[in-house]
Amino acid sequence: MRDEYSKGARELGKPSTHRIRISSALIALLILTLVTLLPFTQKSAIDRVQQCSIDTIQRDTSFLHDAHPITSHEFIDRRNKLAKALAASGVDGFVLEPGYTFEYYGNISQTSWEPWEPEERPFLMIVEPRVEDGGQIHAKTSFLSPKFEEGRVRMLGIPSEHSLNIVTWEEHWNPYQTLKQGLFSHTKDPIIMVDEEMRDFIVRGLSSNGFSTVGLDMEIEALRQTKSAAEIEILRAVNTGTVEAVRAVRSCLLPGLTEDEVVTVLDQTLLSIGFSLFFNLVLFEENAALPHGGFVTGDKVLEQDTMVLIDVGAHYLGYSSDICRSFFIPPPKPSRIGALLTFLASGWSPLHKTGFRLHQEKLKVWQLVLDAQTSAAQRFTPESRAKDVDIAARTVITQAGYGPMFTHRVGHGIGIKAHEAPYLHQGNNQMLRAGMTFTNEPGVYLVGRFGIRHEDVFLVKEDGPPEILSGRRAIGPYDP
Ligand SMILES: *[C@@H]1O[C@H](CO)[C@@H](O)[C@H](O)[C@H]1NC(C)=O
Repeated sequence: MRDEYSKGARELGKPSTHRIRISSALIALLILTLVTLLPFTQKSAIDRVQQCSIDTIQRDTSFLHDAHPITSHEFIDRRNKLAKALAASGVDGFVLEPGYTFEYYGNISQTSWEPWEPEERPFLMIVEPRVEDGGQIHAKTSFLSPKFEEGRVRMLGIPSEHSLNIVTWEEHWNPYQTLKQGLFSHTKDPIIMVDEEMRDFIVRGLSSNGFSTVGLDMEIEALRQTKSAAEIEILRAVNTGTVEAVRAVRSCLLPGLTEDEVVTVLDQTLLSIGFSLFFNLVLFEENAALPHGGFVTGDKVLEQDTMVLIDVGAHYLGYSSDICRSFFIPPPKPSRIGALLTFLASGWSPLHKTGFRLHQEKLKVWQLVLDAQTSAAQRFTPESRAKDVDIAARTVITQAGYGPMFTHRVGHGIGIKAHEAPYLHQGNNQMLRAGMTFTNEPGVYLVGRFGIRHEDVFLVKEDGPPEILSGRRAIGPYDP
């Protein structure tokens, strides 16, 4: 009995100790959860902005649809066009090292050939013009390579109709003599054109071993400056997508974020659409009064009336974007009390008055820079010289009294590199041609106050107005 009673009591008591255990376990769990979540609640503001921005851009990525990788056929075609221009220039060959030009003609960048550091052993591409039976000129492409690298060169996947013609040199040979004997033994005093990226020791090596070397001429440069239909579609995709990324970021921005935090959000937004990162300048207010920022930017905190300048470039399918937007973040949805307080404050605050004047000047300069960009865009025709585009923008800004604050050229060519010739400055007399692509990026910089720049990318057409390759231009500081 007793035993049974006490057993029953023990069993009765069991659930209550269980309850205590369960509730203390719950409390422990709760504390643990809070402790674990604490850093996340601090992080969550930027995470929410991040997620908002990625969700926004993912809603419509149709800007990517018409961009396709450059085909093998197009690479071969580029070398054939080069060969025709070389023949017209009266040179025996064109020689280049891995770099941007090699990327254009052979799909190999400097880093994909030299992942470690620039090599002291010359690896060169040589393009010679050859006359076919029908009188057509085509490119004979060859390579000069260290003997032990021959296998690697063949594995690079350089687009070619035939297996690669590779002249090899052993470590203890003179590579320039090897090149001369291997490719130019029947050419008396061969003249070769060297690419602008060629390192000096190689140029000197060539010229002290029987080659006459000459620099690039205008017709050779014009080949890469004049974009093909495929290049135009890639440039349109990467530049439009970069503008859309800035817009997506902007629509999610809140006061309190720093410049560096906005950089992170923009980087992640660009990565989410398959772009690779290149450069990303986020400058608030007076930090944007130096066109490329300074070394001390990053910590400035975003406020409601901050003039934000974002200049950003990304890469997609080997081509570069370079665009800039200047804007205010979206205004807060006003609560009635907030609106009343703002109204009351506006009556007497002297601070508000200077704030008002600053705001008005931002609006005025914003529109002025847009007008300058419009004026410059009208000069993107084959009848213009490079300088005409710059002067068109500069005239608008100078007439408004801000001339000295427009401190840089109005733009530059853009392609595989963000900055390519021709450069649009007051001193450049080069004629524009249909197919050239340029940035158009006037700016006004008020030291200690703010800076504004609008940058879009334009294509020069044979007839009529230029085509914009960065989607649509800015409309206002609240709709950049
Ligand atoms: C060019 O190189 C890229 C990247 O290395 C590669 O994805 C692409 O297939 C190459 N194109 C051709 C035509 O070989």
